[in-house]
Amino acid sequence: MALERTLCIVKPDAVEKNKAGHILAKLEESGFTVVALKRTHLSRQVAEGFYAVHKARPFFGELVQFMTRSPVVIAVLERDNAVVQYRGVMGATDPAKADAGTIRKLYGANVGENAVHGSDSLDNAKIEIAYFFAASEVAPSAG
Ligand code: CMP
Repeated sequence: MALERTLCIVKPDAVEKNKAGHILAKLEESGFTVVALKRTHLSRQVAEGFYAVHKARPFFGELVQFMTRSPVVIAVLERDNAVVQYRGVMGATDPAKADAGTIRKLYGANVGENAVHGSDSLDNAKIEIAYFFAASEVAPSAG
């Protein structure tokens, strides 16, 4: 199985509850290595750009408002098959439908405030990582 990287955003709801450390610890215990990490407060422009693919969705305004409400913690995660593995640990978008023990089941409140974001494909992971991190900020390896 190939070594991959994926993007994790610990969203404002989880950071506000001081759960970023718990979530990163759970990810490390699940076999991921945190190869880059930052805490930042997203501007509206940055959040709109990140979620541009959802621009036409009825929840877009609510999503951007939520993501800019307070700081986020953004991590690049590395392990074999990272994209699929992280989606498993993260759980379904709607915490009510997420499996027991997943991050969204443990820390998410609803489909909007669902604790974490994760890349949905390897191609998007590369785009999303480059959106938030300069190449010089991400440790070398996994192509
Ligand atoms: P995320 O993985 O960050 O990618 C897009 C986000 O849109 C998703 O997680 C949800 O938090 C959010 N989202 C999806 N559906 C809805 C909805 N019906 N109402 C509000 N937010 C939503």
